[in-house]
Amino acid sequence: MNTTTEFEFSFLEEGFSARDVVEQKINESSMSDDRDAFYVCDLGDILKKHLRWTRALPRVTPFYAVKCNDSRAVVTTLASLGTGFDCASKTEIQLVQSLGVDPNRIIYANPCKQVSQIKYASAHGVQMMTFDSEVELMKVARCHDNAKLVLRIATDDSKAVCRLSVKFGAPLKACRGLLERAKELGLDVIGVSFHVGSGCTDPLTFNQAIADARCVFDMGEELGYNMNLLDIGGGFPGSDDVELKFEEITAVINPSLDKYFPADSNVKIIAEPGRFYVASAYTLVVNIIAKKVIMDDEAASDEEDEGTSDRTLMYYVNDGVYGSFNCILYDHAHCLPSLHKKPKPDEVMYPCSIWGPTCDGLDRIVEQCNLPDMQVGDWLVFETMGAYTVAASSTFNGFQRPDIHYVMSRPAWQYVQQIRTQGMPVPAEESCLQEVPACCGRGSGLEMPTKPCQTNVV
Ligand SMILES: Cc1ncc(COP(=O)(O)O)c(C=O)c1O
Repeated sequence: MNTTTEFEFSFLEEGFSARDVVEQKINESSMSDDRDAFYVCDLGDILKKHLRWTRALPRVTPFYAVKCNDSRAVVTTLASLGTGFDCASKTEIQLVQSLGVDPNRIIYANPCKQVSQIKYASAHGVQMMTFDSEVELMKVARCHDNAKLVLRIATDDSKAVCRLSVKFGAPLKACRGLLERAKELGLDVIGVSFHVGSGCTDPLTFNQAIADARCVFDMGEELGYNMNLLDIGGGFPGSDDVELKFEEITAVINPSLDKYFPADSNVKIIAEPGRFYVASAYTLVVNIIAKKVIMDDEAASDEEDEGTSDRTLMYYVNDGVYGSFNCILYDHAHCLPSLHKKPKPDEVMYPCSIWGPTCDGLDRIVEQCNLPDMQVGDWLVFETMGAYTVAASSTFNGFQRPDIHYVMSRPAWQYVQQIRTQGMPVPAEESCLQEVPACCGRGSGLEMPTKPCQTNVV
């Protein structure tokens, strides 16, 4: 198989962080008029997430949900770390396989697949795939010789930010019928999957779903199936600025797994995290391209006396909801910027709105926030922008997607290579993975970068 693993990234030199690269790029861009929006992605952050995952969920193998962010650099890094992949389409399967990932590290986790794409999976050795209906079973029976089917069950995701069980997942009461039909069709059902909804806010949903999965395993056993795969889906937070932290969720999941699927049950447990791995690795930097000052008529008359907020400011920036901020529409995201120029302690703040660059009135990033009086050419920084952003952005109105500058510290890069070649070593200390900028390189994730950098960041 032809494998292409190359992607470009810069090494961080000792003592510097991805945030220093943001500053460097802002300084470089500020010297010209081309102040395009850009991302800095710290691939070392993905490594840290992986270490955190293995510590918190030692029994659960992550199959990264490619839909969340299909950047080659991200997928290659995760492939080097040995994760599996949740693919929803032929193109995602192609991407993952182009990196040399073995088909048994792929689950085709889309319960409603196009026939031609099931045939593609069959021809390319991808066997694990989900289903939640009889029609899907019949399609698979016709188009795939060796499918290993996973029954996706519905969950109570009413408290999740993005609900998925409104669309996918068989209700518990339908499962026996589906398993019986699968048996009639001569299909192999190897396990159960679920998704508690993306942005899970109630860890007990996992508890209930794991218990439900146990029921379906028992049904399967009664029908002569010997199921050995439990897939607990996604729903894990991508950063720590959320109410329900990752470890609070895993503290509920682990005892539940031990109760319903103890280690000696020989059930392999996988998950499909997306947001968890990539959200915090990406910082988006946008530039103010236009501004309007809306005077409040009544306040305006008092202006000289009060000197307080008598106006609303409208800032227009060079990325919007048709681009990276599609997450506002599709992922229910609330994006708030931090300021590049730190405000003075006594700086007056104004009620502001922030708008994207397209001609559509829908293209609004922030409806209301307080910001100082900034100028065209100033920068705004949005953290935690790696999940469901670049993957679904368009170039509507001719606005191009921001460039992404990938960075990684040398210790992080070496650690990734060590894991790739020798497997997961004894738990690493995160402190040995300090980020640091240095030189631009061209790395493959499989070999030492060869092109040294021209300019150091410092
Ligand atoms: C089937 C499936 N698996 C995994 C994910 C990833 O979810 P998350 O980003 O919440 O981890 C999704 C997201 O929509 C999904 O549909």
